[in-house]
Amino acid sequence: MSPFRDDLFAGKTAFIAGGTSGINLGIAIRLAELGARVAVCGRDGGKAQRAAETIGHGALGLSTDVRDYDRTRGAMVQAHEAFGPFNIVISGAAGNFLAPATDMSANAFSTVVDIDLNGTFNVFRGCRDLLDAPGASLIAITAGQAVNAMALQSHACAAKAGINQLVRVLALEWGPDVRVNGISPGPIADTEGMKRLAPDPATRAAHEARIAMKRWGTAHDVAECAVFLCSEAACYVTGTILDCDGGSQVGDASRMDTARGLA
Ligand code: HXC
Ligand code: NAP
Repeated sequence: MSPFRDDLFAGKTAFIAGGTSGINLGIAIRLAELGARVAVCGRDGGKAQRAAETIGHGALGLSTDVRDYDRTRGAMVQAHEAFGPFNIVISGAAGNFLAPATDMSANAFSTVVDIDLNGTFNVFRGCRDLLDAPGASLIAITAGQAVNAMALQSHACAAKAGINQLVRVLALEWGPDVRVNGISPGPIADTEGMKRLAPDPATRAAHEARIAMKRWGTAHDVAECAVFLCSEAACYVTGTILDCDGGSQVGDASRMDTARGLA
């Protein structure tokens, strides 16, 4: 049962980059349910239209590639013309695949850094004068790889680490008008990300055993964190990265069983 009021974001506007599938679409759906006017964007315009229909509540689906500053700014201007200044902006577009650094071309590495890190700069820089400030809330979707190195993930680890530091710098520069935070989801079920990183049930089961909460998360779990960070309840929270990962970053919960066995 959600603790949030149904009209929490009535009259508010949200722009969600990469909001056309997965976790970010889950956030978009939740913000719209709570009354926000929502615009989502991705590279595939048809997918963006379908996402807007799924979100409902008059949502707008737009096409852009976050690697292209001018196109992304154009999409935001379009959403601003339709809905007015943004109260909430979420940067969640990302690309990922498993590859050892020795087999990764320079272009493969820079493609992921360009989408995740440069894309987040483009989205936040591009929306700065379109915000309803003071009071606007920006959120970057990062990941545990920003802090914990993961083999086969040099591109995503580097990009997400950069995002975490960008969040902190922008929080310093844009306060007190604008709050800038990150959400670091753990493994989230039924997402493209986990299809790529843990495609088989055995890997998932082994992974879940190590998590304190003993399950993968849901897009709704992450959406509730986004709602909190965008709400007045978080009015003194900026420059932070909120882990929504069932305790994944804390450590390996399966080691308790091993320790008991040894006792
Ligand atoms: C090695 C690869 C590769 C692979 C692509 N490349 N896939 N290299 N292994 N599996 C290389 C290509 O050969 C090329 O280099 C370069 O990367 C760019 O590839 P393109 O296909 O031209 O790029 P583009 O069309 O822009 O597509 C971007 C993409 C793609 C990242 C490669 O996978 C994509 O669009 N992904 C978006 C969806 C996604 O990944 N969602 C999951 C996010 S989850 P060369 O040298 O040949 O030109 C996530 C999880 C976080 O972030 C953490 C979870 C715990
Ligand atoms: P997803 O479904 O693949 O979502 C990615 C979104 O970004 C889609 O809307 C996609 O639409 C868009 N996108 C990709 N490249 C883009 C580009 N260059 N320009 C504009 N839009 C682009 O992924 P997900 O698994 O839900 O992950 C969502 C976010 O959560 C990502 O930031 C990811 O790093 C983070 N995360 C995920 C997990 C997980 O368990 N899945 C864990 C930790 C962190 P188009 O393809 O149409 O462009």
